[in-house]
Amino acid sequence: MSTIFPKWTNGLPTMIAGGTVGTLALVVGVVWYTFTPAYWAVGYMPKQPGGGFNHQIHAGKLGMDCRYCHTHVESSSEANIPSVKTCFGCHAEGKLQVYNDSDAHKGKTAFIREAYAEDQPIEWRRVHKVADYVRNFPHHAHVAAGVSCLSCHGNIARMPEVWQEESLSMGWCLDCHRNPEKNLVPKDQVTRLFDVEDLFKAENEAKRIDNGKKFYEERRLAAPENCGACHY
Ligand code: HEC
Ligand code: HEC
Ligand code: HEC
Ligand code: HEC
Ligand code: HEC
Repeated sequence: MSTIFPKWTNGLPTMIAGGTVGTLALVVGVVWYTFTPAYWAVGYMPKQPGGGFNHQIHAGKLGMDCRYCHTHVESSSEANIPSVKTCFGCHAEGKLQVYNDSDAHKGKTAFIREAYAEDQPIEWRRVHKVADYVRNFPHHAHVAAGVSCLSCHGNIARMPEVWQEESLSMGWCLDCHRNPEKNLVPKDQVTRLFDVEDLFKAENEAKRIDNGKKFYEERRLAAPENCGACHY
């Protein structure tokens, strides 16, 4: 009988089955990867009210500190978005010279005065969100440890509209937790993103890591790698 099919073909059904399973796994893998937030969330930039809040103008050109608006970043496990009142402080009718000088500016900022007059919040759409089953992401612990906003959000002060710069995946968290040194900066620079950008671009990376190691010890930091720290 074995003359019809040579001996080597005995393994063929297994090989074909194996190949099919392999291909299937690959397809499932690709689909899984493509539809996992870690893939599509980088670059996520939802359409915002009023064309979006322009960080490039406010935090970049005007040099406003992040904490002027994101007041709880050092104290709360969730960062906060400012209320209309914060915007109205500057954008009330006629308050800024540019309001009187430019009809275009008046038009672009009208939605603030309307929201304020109607006592309605501006419906900003959330950009960054870690998966719900990640129970513990203490935002303030990171800021207080001296990790700059830049490490996790990119240079927001260059963004006319906020987009998501990093994947927020588990691998991303763990990459930093395993080697946090290079992301630690002098504490007074955490929100000075252009300074941090320069620091990160500096040629002498070895020195930066050395400094980071010192910060890590001085500040008595412990970035956890055990599952329970983030998932309970
Ligand atoms: C004048 C107020 C103001 C200042 C100053 C400011 N922001 Fe914002 N920020 C906002 C508002 C309003 C939003 C919500 C609209 C949006 O997401 O585009 C926002 C959104 C964000 C988001 C995205 C939030 C989300 O939904 O995921 C990040 C990250 C952020 N800001 C970081 C910063 C950093 C870093 C700085 C300092 C370099 C800064 N902001 C300075 C008002 C401000
Ligand atoms: C400390 C004062 C101050 C605060 C607070 C402030 N702004 Fe502004 N904003 C300005 C100034 C000054 C300009 C004009 C800048 C320019 O034309 O270069 C401006 C410009 C703008 C513009 C026009 C942008 C463009 O493309 O020309 C919008 C829209 C705007 N702000 C929205 C907001 C919103 C929303 C908030 C609250 C989250 C806010 N601003 C908070 C000072 C402020
Ligand atoms: C270690 C990384 C990390 C650092 C450092 C960091 N952030 Fe975030 N930030 C995140 C992540 C992740 C989220 C989403 C959190 C969630 O879903 O609970 C977030 C969310 C936010 C939000 C959205 C809050 C909301 O309710 O919509 C703002 C605003 C924000 N960050 C601003 C800042 C500012 C300003 C700084 C610097 C002072 C900063 N972040 C530093 C990782 C970081
Ligand atoms: C760029 C660096 C960086 C990234 C990215 C980062 N972390 Fe951390 N994380 C740290 C450092 C540094 C500490 C140590 C803080 C301390 O000891 O006070 C820390 C501490 C923590 C802690 C313990 C806080 C405490 O009070 O002891 C948790 C929980 C945590 N991170 C969760 C996360 C999660 C979840 C993510 C991803 C969504 C993440 N981190 C991303 C740097 C990072
Ligand atoms: C520093 C925080 C952190 C630690 C420590 C951590 N995780 Fe995660 N984990 C995350 C984040 C953030 C996500 C969400 C990933 C996403 O949305 O893409 C996640 C996702 C997951 C998922 C969903 C599948 C996936 O990969 O997206 C599983 C399962 C998981 N973690 C198991 C574990 C186990 C087991 C450990 C311990 C060996 C662990 N995690 C340690 C932050 C952490």
